[in-house]
Amino acid sequence: MRKILVIGSAGQIGSELTLKLRDLYGNNNVIAGVITSNPPKKLSETGPWEKVDVLDRQELVAAVRKFKVDMIINMAAILSATGEENHMLAWDVNMNGLINVLEVAREFKMKQVVVPSSIAVFGPSAPVNNTPQETVLKPSTMYGITKVAGELLGDYYVEKYGLDVRGLRYPGIISHVTLPGGGATDYAVAIYYEAVKNGRYTCFVNENTRLPMMYMPDCLKSTIDLMQADFSRLRRHCDYNVGAMSFSAGELAASIKKYIPEFEITYEPDSRQEIADSWPDSVDDSAAREDWGWKPGYDLDAMTRDMLEAVREKHQVGLI
Ligand code: SER
Repeated sequence: MRKILVIGSAGQIGSELTLKLRDLYGNNNVIAGVITSNPPKKLSETGPWEKVDVLDRQELVAAVRKFKVDMIINMAAILSATGEENHMLAWDVNMNGLINVLEVAREFKMKQVVVPSSIAVFGPSAPVNNTPQETVLKPSTMYGITKVAGELLGDYYVEKYGLDVRGLRYPGIISHVTLPGGGATDYAVAIYYEAVKNGRYTCFVNENTRLPMMYMPDCLKSTIDLMQADFSRLRRHCDYNVGAMSFSAGELAASIKKYIPEFEITYEPDSRQEIADSWPDSVDDSAAREDWGWKPGYDLDAMTRDMLEAVREKHQVGLI
């Protein structure tokens, strides 16, 4: 049985991934690594947790020893918009954090490491539609630069040290359990919360901004499918494109209007527009489909129905 440490366990993806993995592998086999000494109850009450700052290698080693960890999933990251405001922090967390994880995994001969990447590896010079798996990677954000370097670093540990490192390029992730923070795709989550609470939303990218997006159940599925894939079938390691849907902000609003006809949206693009404009509209994920059977389950309207129901429930019980 695996002993998995999820670093960044309290974050948007980490919080749901930790609970899903506890269902699959047993509560005691999945350790929630959180940066605070006061983790969310849903993590601390369902299994072990430990304070792990990805930048503190001693703390990481202590957690690995304490729980006999043999697999790490590193979800700790500074996202694109925060990364543009604080480029040194993004570099520090995304690069020094990653090398700490890889080095500890190498020293302890871990069975596997999962290090997510992002559509942010692409920049303005990459093809915009159905962006190929192999294409020019010249991102214009610090976040994207750290993700390109992270993919290369992960691949290096596979080749040089025989470590099983895997990763996939997440699109914008939409979810209703834990809010995202500091990303250029955060509008696609905030819009649902504001639609339910106030019936209106001011969007920070313009109506025609189109990006690859994915609903959380598909994000969890893609991560776990890749984790469980037979290593010998993987022709790549840390850079799989994964697609699910692609829509513009206007199309997202139209989907919400089908269920909340009085919903109103206005557009006031800010600095995040430029980040969004530098990313693809959609990605070609045929390598993921061929190598490990990737197949998404949700389209835009199915996600909207689910999101609205979940966010309404939170609103009714006073959680938002
Ligand atoms: N959702 C991320 C961001 O907006 C992209 O990986 O930064």
